[in-house]
Amino acid sequence: MELVHTIEEVRSRHDAARAAGGRVGLVPTMGYLHDGHRSLMEAARADCDFVTVTIFVNPLQFGPNEDLDAYPRDLDGDLALAEGAGVSLVFAPSVKEMYPDGEVLTSVRVRGLADQLEGASRPGHFDGVATVVSKLFAIAGPCQAYFGEKDFQQLQIVTRMTRDLSIPVDVVPCPTVREANGLARSSRNAYLSDAEREAAAVLKRALEAGVAAIEAGERSPVEVERRMAEVVASEPLATLDYARVVDAASLETLESLRGTLRLLIAARVGPARLIDNVGTVLP
Ligand code: PAJ
Repeated sequence: MELVHTIEEVRSRHDAARAAGGRVGLVPTMGYLHDGHRSLMEAARADCDFVTVTIFVNPLQFGPNEDLDAYPRDLDGDLALAEGAGVSLVFAPSVKEMYPDGEVLTSVRVRGLADQLEGASRPGHFDGVATVVSKLFAIAGPCQAYFGEKDFQQLQIVTRMTRDLSIPVDVVPCPTVREANGLARSSRNAYLSDAEREAAAVLKRALEAGVAAIEAGERSPVEVERRMAEVVASEPLATLDYARVVDAASLETLESLRGTLRLLIAARVGPARLIDNVGTVLP
């Protein structure tokens, strides 16, 4: 496994891999890698001959009062995990390498999909994500790129952006990896104490309560959302941001639940803001 820091090095390694007939797999991350990231690398390894992981804490996707400076970092640990997962190349650029002019005048905005849920709570967040991901795709060249369902709205936005802009990248969704208590793996779990980590499992329980209500015949989104909120309210260490059930493709509110649905939740537990989601399909 090789570690590189420049765009030019990534391009030359990918050109060589493709010239040798190899398929390139890309796993974009912000580092502080865990088993969720590892599952993306393993999926990439299964499909591709050459797997590149990018590690870049992208300032564009953090709001002014968010955790950009506090975001956990551990390059040595990340390199060990990536190597163990059979990764070929790690690209860890500096901010200057990615944004050499400081100010970025070009922004990629996926209208509609980026405005609700996380987009409503974190204005501008998904413009920063879509912009950096389109840049990483332009750097990597044609390839398969692996994204987690853990960040379901991000996955939908990246998929749509890639279609809208005819970017020659296949976006491959990967299932959410969880801890034993149901908590979705996240770099931000590092902010949690043991008690908060236990309390944070309430997000998954709330999603399960929402699915159970739908399976029991509930068709009112407001009622399903109320059930989810109730579960979160039962955990004193958690404060709900939103609990929603929406159409999985458009992320839009339905009057009456039908088709392929996604239940999404965001809550603050101690110092961490956590998100999670699950899907369900109505016949
Ligand atoms: P990051 O939070 O580091 O996540 C990198 C990738 O790992 C994303 O596709 C995310 O959905 C996936 N992932 C995280 N936790 C997961 C889990 N528990 N199970 C499965 N997949 C999981 O998401 C980002 O970084 C950034 O926004 C990025 C796309 C890199 C753009 O900066």
